[in-house]
Amino acid sequence: MALKVGRGAAAPPFIVMDVITAANARAASLPVGAPAVIRMEVGQPGTGAPQGAVAAAAAALRSGVSLGYTEALGLPSLRARIARHYADWYGIAVAPARIAVTLGASGAFPLAFLVAFDPGDRVALAAPFYPPYVNILQALGLVPVSMECDAATRFQPTVAMLEALDPRPAGLSLASPCNPAGTMLHPDEIAMLARWCGAHGVRLISDEIYHGLHYDAPLATAAAVPDAIVVNSFSKYFSMTGWRVGWMVLPEDLVRPAERLAQNFFISAPHIAQVAAEAAFACTEELERNVARYRRSRDLLLHALPAAGFTLGPAEGAFYLFADVSRLTNDSEAFCTRMLAEAGVAAAPGVDFDRIRGSRFVRFSYCGPEADMREAAERLVQWAGSAAFG
Ligand SMILES: Cc1ncc(COP(=O)(O)O)c(C=O)c1O
Repeated sequence: MALKVGRGAAAPPFIVMDVITAANARAASLPVGAPAVIRMEVGQPGTGAPQGAVAAAAAALRSGVSLGYTEALGLPSLRARIARHYADWYGIAVAPARIAVTLGASGAFPLAFLVAFDPGDRVALAAPFYPPYVNILQALGLVPVSMECDAATRFQPTVAMLEALDPRPAGLSLASPCNPAGTMLHPDEIAMLARWCGAHGVRLISDEIYHGLHYDAPLATAAAVPDAIVVNSFSKYFSMTGWRVGWMVLPEDLVRPAERLAQNFFISAPHIAQVAAEAAFACTEELERNVARYRRSRDLLLHALPAAGFTLGPAEGAFYLFADVSRLTNDSEAFCTRMLAEAGVAAAPGVDFDRIRGSRFVRFSYCGPEADMREAAERLVQWAGSAAFG
């Protein structure tokens, strides 16, 4: 007898992970001395944790301290340090009691969605989007409602788009700087969206994981917006993807509910990673060197890639370029497969981020070594100039 399979079993893959597998296979099959595959598919800083974070973790290992579970909401010292970060970066006061340390931003999403919504509730978000938002919402029985955004609004939603939704959603999920477009909501735009949410009883969830990686526009956090939930992480600016530490800023009434869920789901984020994360706040000089490198790579690619036929929008933050490739192809998946095989450059097809319009887009991540980004630009211009595309 076939047993019932749960709705979560239908979650689609995160295609970028499949591209990583293909790029690994290609790299492994190259003959000795052949030009290496340039990795632009993955949104993971290659720099590793900053030195101060590594040193703190090493000291914790040597100290003989038992690295056991921490409180479900995280080490009190880390929660206090994260709260101070809001004063340092944004000039706003956030009580440490409102901080919940999580297993990366990824661990924050199910907690946030579950404390804020019920099955069947609709949550609006911009398309293109970071695929796990939709996949997690659906796995939890919530209904993602995507608002088609394009370069005209820098791939970000507007109040007019929200007004057009019928029925009105229970929640709005924002990301700025966003993945895959690398664009931002400017402070006045966040304020307008937050006001609309406040006026209509819509819960705002703001993914701020790429804060710190912004190059032109000023940054605004939703942490001061009443009733909003902010999600952030040590994975990107702090360059600590594999340590699996993130955090939420919660409205006071949701702290205890989130704590209860976190106790049951995860118990705690890894203790040693929390120690390292706290130390990372003192590594600004090293981290800002990474940001300067991303900025240089961004400038180089923005300048070079149009000659290869890629149409680029504004790239205000994160480390992504979302290139319109419709002058070259209408099948970005096949295009990326060829680009990997023929130019040795791995990038993510847009279909991962926008199931309807993504076949016209490719996402390039420029957080790899600067020399690789220069080489990628040369290879792509040469490849696009010599290859025939259908
Ligand atoms: C927009 C966005 N949110 C969340 C995450 C997940 O990050 P974490 O490593 O903190 O789980 C990512 C990872 O790429 C991302 O791009």
